[in-house]
Amino acid sequence: MRTVRNPVVNVMMTAATKAARRMIRDFGELENLQVSKKGPSDFVSAADLRTEKILFEELGKARPGWSFLMEEGGRVDGDGSDDRWIIDPIDGTTNFLHGIPHFAISIAHERNGEILEGLIYNPVYDEAFWAAKGEGAHLNDRRLRVSGRTDMSQALFATGIPYQGRPGHDTFLKTAEAVMAVSSGIRRMGSAALDLAYVAAGRYDGYWEEGIKPWDMAAGILLVREAGGYVSDLKGGSAMLDKGEVIAANDRLHGPFSRLLQQALRA
Ligand code: IPD
Ligand code: CA
Repeated sequence: MRTVRNPVVNVMMTAATKAARRMIRDFGELENLQVSKKGPSDFVSAADLRTEKILFEELGKARPGWSFLMEEGGRVDGDGSDDRWIIDPIDGTTNFLHGIPHFAISIAHERNGEILEGLIYNPVYDEAFWAAKGEGAHLNDRRLRVSGRTDMSQALFATGIPYQGRPGHDTFLKTAEAVMAVSSGIRRMGSAALDLAYVAAGRYDGYWEEGIKPWDMAAGILLVREAGGYVSDLKGGSAMLDKGEVIAANDRLHGPFSRLLQQALRA
C-alpha cells in the first residue's frame, strides 16, 4: 500500500499490509481444505485470530495507550486516552471460508465517539478504501465520490441477509420486497464493510442492513460520508453503532430510499 499524508491512515495501512500478507497465504492454503468433510472452518477461525493479533500488535506499537474494540478479542482498554481502534480482521468470513475472494480488513479510529479515520482493505484486489474526516474518501490514490443516480429504478442496492441463528428474517423480507419492486437490483456480496466502501465508490447507489456490529460499519460510515453520501439508522437518526443497523446511499437517494424502507417496516 502507498503512503498518504494523514499519519493515522498511514499507521492503519502499515498494519493492514502486514496482516494481509499472512491472510493471503492462509487464503491460498484453504484450497487444500475445501474437500475435507468437516470443512475448513477451524482453519478460518485460526486465520481470523492470527490477522487480528497482527493488527492489534502493529496498531498498539504505533499508538501505545489507545483502546481497542475488536470482533474476536472484544474490548481492550487503553491508558484512559479518548482514542480507540475498531477492528474487523476479516469482514466476509463466510466468503473467505468458501474460497470466494470478497473480504476485507476494516479498521476505524474513533475519538470520543467520533470516527476520524477509516480503512477497508481488500487484499485480493489490492483495493484500499480510506477516508479521513474532512479529507475526503479515496480508493488507493483516487478521490471517491458517491454515484450521481437519482432514479430508484436505475439504482443498484446492497444488503445483508440474516441466516440461521440470527434474528430479523421477517423484517429483512419486508424491506427486500419493497426494494426489489422499484430498483434495478439487490446484491448480497457478504461483506458489510465492502458494501459501504462500494457505496462510497459509486458502485452501489445504496445499502441497508440490520443486525450488524460496530466493527462491520465504523470505517465504512466515514467513507460514505466523506464521499458525499448520507448514512443513518433505519429511523433516520444517527444511532447506527448502538442499534446495529444502517442505511447508506448517495445524497439524492438517501431520502426516498429510507422512506421506502420505513414504510415497508411499518406494513
Ligand atoms: C458479516 C458480513 C456480512 C453481514 C453480516 C456480518 P463477518 O461479517 O459483514 O456481510 O451480512 O451481518 O456479520 O462475519 O464476515 O465478519
Ligand atoms: Ca464482520
